[in-house]
Amino acid sequence: MESAAVKILYNKEVAPKYFKLGLSWKTPPIAPGHFVMLRVSDGLDPLLRRPFGIYNVLGSKGKGTFKGNGIELVYQVVGKGTQILANKAAGETINLLGPLGNGFPHPDGSKKIIMIAGGMGIVPLHMLAKSTEGAVLLYGARDKKVASMAKDFKDTKCKVKIATEDGSVGKKGLVTELLKTELKSDSVVYACGPVGMLKQASIISQAAGVKCYVSLERSMACGIGVCLGCAVKAKTHNEKENKNYRMVCSEGPVFDSEEIDWDAL
Ligand SMILES: Cc1cc2nc3c(=O)[nH]c(=O)nc-3n(C[C@H](O)[C@H](O)[C@H](O)COP(=O)(O)OP(=O)(O)OC[C@H]3O[C@@H](n4cnc5c(N)ncnc54)[C@H](O)[C@@H]3O)c2cc1C
Ligand code: FES
Repeated sequence: MESAAVKILYNKEVAPKYFKLGLSWKTPPIAPGHFVMLRVSDGLDPLLRRPFGIYNVLGSKGKGTFKGNGIELVYQVVGKGTQILANKAAGETINLLGPLGNGFPHPDGSKKIIMIAGGMGIVPLHMLAKSTEGAVLLYGARDKKVASMAKDFKDTKCKVKIATEDGSVGKKGLVTELLKTELKSDSVVYACGPVGMLKQASIISQAAGVKCYVSLERSMACGIGVCLGCAVKAKTHNEKENKNYRMVCSEGPVFDSEEIDWDAL
């Protein structure tokens, strides 16, 4: 993990309030599911860095782990920090901390990979899709505009199935309904998105006896396991450290879904 002042290569709005941000950075090895924290302001407001998943490693042909000369992030403007980020231009520098987190366990090739994402949860799965063959992505989006984010998966060997809430593209309804039909006993599930979707994906997978890994999103202050701000309750007690919670930033963001106490989230 390093802290670096990196140059913005591009920061373009790809749909209203959705941006792709390219950062020049000679990266350490990055695995699918890693994330970075960006300091969007040099002032005191907002003081805390903001976490973002890594969508692409630029200039890398890696598989499994990637090393390149830049990274691409995709973000949605939801508040003050992301609005400040949206106003930044190519050539400006920004402070980055990363890569952070554990990343997805690399698939061993024996299972059929099902990725399930909701909204911005698609971001970390893009690099996982680039690392695998024969996987399927089930993508749940509010509408056609959000669903269009799945078009980048054309550069992977991954099949895409979409569910939209308004039925404007793909199947009308919840993406977890697609999971029920797609799941086989030899599947492994990788999920990222809203908590409700992750909980359902976990329940459906467990009922089918299938392993499900979830990438969680929590508000983060430090990103390195110090402030305890991103703790989630676990189902099992960690005897060694005598605790029944997990730090999403340093022990996650990817967990075996059976580890999480979903009712406490
Ligand atoms: C590990 C990790 C990876 C992430 N990856 C991405 C990514 O690739 N792209 C992306 O767009 N966002 C991602 N996020 C979420 C992103 O960090 C937040 O949207 C961002 O910090 C909001 O900052 P803000 O100052 O604009 O909003 P704030 O002013 O902090 O909040 C504005 C509003 O957005 C809500 N909000 C804040 N964080 C989240 C969140 N995580 N999920 C849903 N609502 C939230 C707040 O509750 C509030 O209502 C990730 C979060 C984590 C923890
Ligand atoms: S954000 Fe500080 S411990 Fe996770």
